[in-house]
Amino acid sequence: MAFKLIVNGRTSSVDVPAGMPLLWVLRDVLNLRGTKYGCGIGECGACTVHVRGKAVRSCQTPVSSAADAQITTIEGLSADGTHPVQLAWQDVDVPQCGYCQAGQMMSAAALLAKTANPSDQDIETAMNGNICRCGTYVRIRQAIHKAAGLATPTQQTQSAQNGSRKE
Ligand code: FES
Ligand code: FES
Repeated sequence: MAFKLIVNGRTSSVDVPAGMPLLWVLRDVLNLRGTKYGCGIGECGACTVHVRGKAVRSCQTPVSSAADAQITTIEGLSADGTHPVQLAWQDVDVPQCGYCQAGQMMSAAALLAKTANPSDQDIETAMNGNICRCGTYVRIRQAIHKAAGLATPTQQTQSAQNGSRKE
């Protein structure tokens, strides 16, 4: 069955089963491999992307439910790596192995789009479902605070609305 997907500002038609998880469409059909497979059961957050500006677990999102929606993956968070979350992640040197980090950054970007200056509790709540086996949680929290200081309202809104685009 054909579905129209708008990923990082680019429209594609994909011919896949309606129940196919968005994660596999992104990775295996559209070749966007930044979004990771961790648990496959909605428990780790490695597969987090934005659909309609909200952070969702793409392993638990049937492609049919994302048809015609604005979808943003880590590749589309900014055109040039200058989203505040990307800059802050580099400044704080957050990743260790890096496997969970695309999902962490997408959850962080969705949080900042909704809450410009989140408290530690806001961060705790928003990031609760993103697991890091390397234990980078303290640096993730630092980086989110740093990103909040770097972000302009426009940048924050862009991440939620998929206003930025990677060619
Ligand atoms: S792979 Fe989707 S939540 Fe773990
Ligand atoms: S940096 Fe290794 S799993 Fe998070």
